[in-house]
Amino acid sequence: MKVEQLFTGCLAEMAYYIESNGEVAIVDPLRETEPYLEMAKANNAKIKYIFLTHFHADFVSGQYDLAQKTGAKIVFGPNATAEYDIYNGKDGEDFPLGGGKLTLIHTPGHTMESSSYLITDEEGNTPCILTGDALFIGDVGRPDLAVKQGTLTEADLAGHLFDSLRNKIMTLPDDIIVYPNHGAGSACGKNMSSETFDTLGNQKKTNYALRADMTKEEFIVEVTTGLKPPPQYFPNNVKMNKSINTSIDDVLHKGTTPLDPATFKEMSEQKDVLVIDTRSKEAYTEEGTVSGAWFIGIDGSFAPWVGALVTNIQQKIIFIADDETRVNEIVTRFSRVGYDNTQGYLAGGIKNWKAQGFDVDKIGSISAAKFAEMLAEGSMEKPTDVRKESEYLSEHVKGVENFPLDDINANFAEIDTSKAYFLHCASGYRSLIASSIFKANGVENVTDVRGGFKDLKETNAPLTEYVCPTTLL
Ligand SMILES: [Fe+2]
Repeated sequence: MKVEQLFTGCLAEMAYYIESNGEVAIVDPLRETEPYLEMAKANNAKIKYIFLTHFHADFVSGQYDLAQKTGAKIVFGPNATAEYDIYNGKDGEDFPLGGGKLTLIHTPGHTMESSSYLITDEEGNTPCILTGDALFIGDVGRPDLAVKQGTLTEADLAGHLFDSLRNKIMTLPDDIIVYPNHGAGSACGKNMSSETFDTLGNQKKTNYALRADMTKEEFIVEVTTGLKPPPQYFPNNVKMNKSINTSIDDVLHKGTTPLDPATFKEMSEQKDVLVIDTRSKEAYTEEGTVSGAWFIGIDGSFAPWVGALVTNIQQKIIFIADDETRVNEIVTRFSRVGYDNTQGYLAGGIKNWKAQGFDVDKIGSISAAKFAEMLAEGSMEKPTDVRKESEYLSEHVKGVENFPLDDINANFAEIDTSKAYFLHCASGYRSLIASSIFKANGVENVTDVRGGFKDLKETNAPLTEYVCPTTLL
């Protein structure tokens, strides 16, 4: 039995390719279908099943398109309902695959249909279990996403999760490998490890939620404490995962349309079109950009930031890329979080834009040392830290206010557009996104601080005392 973990850094997501004797099961596929089709083809194998651990909230999974192309059966756990054909597996049901099998283990809690899949190999051994968002490395799935007003509370879901973990997973052998659906950086939990798998025995020793002497009441309190509201796109992605959406091939076809600079300009001036500049931080700041464009660099946590910041999931988007060979990837990464309305990209990039005589906008930027110097002189109107509140509270530069990028849409009314803002984050990615949105929303005088808090710590800027962030939960 071959079990391959397919890690996608941007979403901190793990899909799985499982194969035995020419038969394949894909677990929790991303929106695109090509990688899975190619893997099966390269191994001369046939995709028989597409298993879902649950309806994902943080990405749009590709089961419908993949099933259309392969004829594979889509399997969810009990209680799942969708607009398309699915098979609801029962707790304990076996799904033969080549010379082995996958056994569905219903593990409700993160959501009510949540299920894990125990793998039995050709020799009858059970080397691993795919736990979805029931059990992560170092954490468990958040129990607040599937709340149903009046009938199912966060505490009810946490209680189900406690029972699932204690009765269905922790009873398995200690040497079994746990393969979860997410790792550090995902908003599906609050304290995930950057490791992508571990033995169950080790998790019992190190994962706070699996403590041997923990009562159900303690578990409910601990997993529900310190949860931040989920990103705004989560409910939209759950809805899309239950629906039939535009096929990924059609999304890619439209999204990768090359737009000459004149057409791009005309579209960028339409009120219902958003320009997103996906280039590197350096290219964006040094070469300038199209007026009104938001910076969300492709080489960062691109999709989660698109999801967190672009409030209309049907938003018409045109984009600027560093490299035209990456436009397919960029459109795919938009659609992984449900932004399917990309309309094309700037053909020939910003160089072609300039060559055609169109103007560029620039965001000013300064080094951390310059920021520290200006702060000491008292010559900055609005020095601002756009990291999360928890990061700010743990340690920050004295005299700098907190205005988290995560909440920029909700709180923008607090911004005085006539003032001069100097924005920093941890290392320079989020502050540049924030700077571009400030500028697009009418703040003329905005400056990005390169290198962020990481570089500021190397200067003589006065810092608050470090408080371990976990004590702030
Ligand atoms: Fe999830």
